[in-house]
Amino acid sequence: MSALREKKSWRALEQYQPEIARQHLRDLFAADPKRADRYRADAAGWKFDYSRHRIDDRTLQHLFALARECGLEARRDAMFAGEKVNTTEQRAALHIALRAPARKVIKVDGVNVVPEVRTVLKRMAEFADAVREGRWLGFNGRPIRNIVNIGIGGSDLGPVMAYEALRHYSDRKLQMRFVSNVDYTDFAEAVRDLRPEETLFIVASKTFTTLETMTNAHSARDWLLAATGGDKAAVAKHFVALSTNEKAVEEFGISTQQMYGFWDWVGGRYSMDSAIGLSTMIALSPDAFHEMLAGFHAMDEHFRTAPLERNLPVIMGLLGVWYTDFFNAETVAVLPYEQYLKRFPAYLQQLTMESNGKHVTVDGAPVDYPTGPIYWGEPGTNGQHSFYQLIHQGTRLIPCDFLGFAQSLNPSGRHHDLLIANVIAQAEALAFGKTLQQVKAEGVNDELAPHRVFEGNRPSSLLLADRLTPAALGSLIALYEHSVFTQATIWNINPFDQWGVELGKQLALRVVDEIESPRKPLNHDSATNATIAWYRKARRK
Ligand code: F6P
Repeated sequence: MSALREKKSWRALEQYQPEIARQHLRDLFAADPKRADRYRADAAGWKFDYSRHRIDDRTLQHLFALARECGLEARRDAMFAGEKVNTTEQRAALHIALRAPARKVIKVDGVNVVPEVRTVLKRMAEFADAVREGRWLGFNGRPIRNIVNIGIGGSDLGPVMAYEALRHYSDRKLQMRFVSNVDYTDFAEAVRDLRPEETLFIVASKTFTTLETMTNAHSARDWLLAATGGDKAAVAKHFVALSTNEKAVEEFGISTQQMYGFWDWVGGRYSMDSAIGLSTMIALSPDAFHEMLAGFHAMDEHFRTAPLERNLPVIMGLLGVWYTDFFNAETVAVLPYEQYLKRFPAYLQQLTMESNGKHVTVDGAPVDYPTGPIYWGEPGTNGQHSFYQLIHQGTRLIPCDFLGFAQSLNPSGRHHDLLIANVIAQAEALAFGKTLQQVKAEGVNDELAPHRVFEGNRPSSLLLADRLTPAALGSLIALYEHSVFTQATIWNINPFDQWGVELGKQLALRVVDEIESPRKPLNHDSATNATIAWYRKARRK
């Protein structure tokens, strides 16, 4: 049995779970009129209401004891101190340094990294201002109006999510586009109505070797050169690179003056507030970008200093462990009641699942408990009319994270009141449901009554803030980042590597070679061989 399952607090949770599982949220609320006040924590502009969870004081005590037994505080401090907590890659994980104030000293291998971070931010701001003010000119002297970010994974999901989330604050004179898929359709549709002479490509890739991004970047260069009559000098005016790989950037033909760097201690999915955020900064302004960084930092400080019992990322992370490991919940639904956050669930999928989708501990031993759950979601109220049925009356337990804001960025009539009424109502319906008795009292006949019953007792968190601002977004992302870290610490896994993406990448290179050399013998399994053979023939029709 793993060391985790041997821990005193883990065993206590195991023993206590059946008692809690028997209780209904209706009873827990009825027994404690102050429950809503007691199970609430605030930080960095966010209110976290976790009263509708299947917990009581004893559950929480055991969960906090588990966090302590697993050394959460020490591991957190090690991360903040720049220790090489990413052990399989021998790297620090210092995304917190990306948003640290200039006066902070954070060292990696004895060198303070904060001044380097600030230097890159300053260069980014100068460039962003030049583009925003129409001073950055394309090859024929026209100002840039279109920005196309080419990247994938962390080099796309963060930028696209942040742009969509904060679009309200963006300069509408600039067209922002995002290309990620190696499917050429993505590129073709992104540039279809753009003029090359007004278009800037931001090639975002930590490694600058990613197949999709490099393929799209070459297509972008061809698209530009077709308009310049092959004049390669134009590349300097229309391409910038965001990367840690100076050599590969130069080989591509982008000079280092047009490159904004970051460091191996920034994981791809933790990089949207590094140089990878250049598109965000151009769209919003350097000031707004710095507001977002301040939001991140406020949550970092909360996570670093607040006692575990009042620490939002810690509580959120522990609740996730509670459901994943003690209730066999397999997924978490993320449900933003804010249209601007429509890409937030997709962003979170990489953050959570690439981080905690691991089956061995940091020491390489197989885990004997479930780790990272599946994250998914859609904005409310749309989801209510598609998949909420299963959350309310299906057979699975799906903890939900509801997100909402007190003020709309586009207030009009009753819209916002209706939106927020819905999120409140959903959390209430999930928790309290409707009993057979209540259904019958409404006059529903015996035959239909079971279909109309809502069991309730379905847990949810409510994450509320006044308004979706750059700072609120920054704190929200940091909240999830640190809650993922909290869970990884409990599960004793490394949330900062992603070896699981490698095998598919390697095989794809082999398969593409076999597709393009049709005489090559095929030595895969029979299913793979048959599919390659089919494609070799069918692609030429
Ligand atoms: O394939 C997964 C991954 O390595 C992610 O972790 C990363 O965010 C993405 O690919 C893109 O990588 P890069 O920024 O190096 O192009």
